[in-house]
Amino acid sequence: MSVVITGATGHLGSLVVDRLIEIGQPAGRIVATGRDTSRLAALAQRTGVQTRRADFADPASLADAFAGVEQLLLVSTTDVGQRFDQHRQAIDAALAAGATLIVYTSILNADTSRLLLADEHRRTEEYLQASGAPHVILRNGWYLENYTDRLPVIRQHGVLPGSAGDGRVSVASRQDYADAAAAVLTSGGAVSDGSVHTIHELGGEAFTLTELAATFSEVLGTPIAYQDLPVDDYAALLTGAGLPAEVATVLADADAGLSRGELYTTSDDLAKLIGRPPTTRDQAVRDAVARPTG
Ligand SMILES: NC(=O)c1ccc[n+]([C@@H]2O[C@H](COP(=O)([O-])OP(=O)(O)OC[C@H]3O[C@@H](n4cnc5c(N)ncnc54)[C@H](OP(=O)(O)O)[C@@H]3O)[C@@H](O)[C@H]2O)c1
Repeated sequence: MSVVITGATGHLGSLVVDRLIEIGQPAGRIVATGRDTSRLAALAQRTGVQTRRADFADPASLADAFAGVEQLLLVSTTDVGQRFDQHRQAIDAALAAGATLIVYTSILNADTSRLLLADEHRRTEEYLQASGAPHVILRNGWYLENYTDRLPVIRQHGVLPGSAGDGRVSVASRQDYADAAAAVLTSGGAVSDGSVHTIHELGGEAFTLTELAATFSEVLGTPIAYQDLPVDDYAALLTGAGLPAEVATVLADADAGLSRGELYTTSDDLAKLIGRPPTTRDQAVRDAVARPTG
């Protein structure tokens, strides 16, 4: 029986595989899956885990991919608009293969959030709950990397643009969320105080984008201002920067949700699950600045 990780060609899934190995899970029990197994070769070489092809849009691939699964980490996919059907097919296949635990990466406040991004997460959660399968839902907050990956452009223009107003966003690094997922997969969802939750609201430090701009200013040693834009203007700016229109719309809408507090939590589930404070914005920005480019 095995632990199957989906989305292991992606950032979060591969970090979870590395973390499982780091905390002593036998490589022979771990199956890393992705749509293109050639993109899992480096991970397999580094960790010794098995790799298999799993494409949620191709249910026939999932019976082989999930054969022998005990615990499944279902990493939410990227095709907004098609994700619910993809997730549903993955849940059905995992249950048919005999999974005894399905861990799903959702979004913060999925049950109440009005973000465009939240709708398919909420439907997936409801499907998982109705399936009767033992499950844990990890409602991941925003990634610090959503901001630190934009560092070169922010530095170039001296501006952090957004539509978040004075809203606070609860943020942590992908590594923090990956460590949480690995902890759940190895503990069945128990947190450090011994209690078990089916739903974890995961977020670290909370801040406004004005506060984040101040951190950028301090670490970069040059003034960075937060520029608050109407949602349509921010979407247009993102489109102008080269993002596809539908991605720009979803990201600008997420900032509007941020302004309403929908990506904010007071929960300390993340710190409890990982047994340490989540990464701060100060640390993340310093790490991003120190990282070699190219
Ligand atoms: N909390 C946040 O701030 C935030 C930000 C961005 C995304 N997310 C969500 O969190 C997820 C994980 O984040 P990430 O940074 O690891 O994203 P990522 O690097 O883009 O990885 C996404 C993974 O999903 C896989 N995938 C896409 N469509 C699939 C399908 N039809 N069947 C099977 N796998 C499929 C991708 O496979 P391929 O390599 O084949 O494309 C990839 O491995 C994302 O997919 C998204 O749902 C959250």
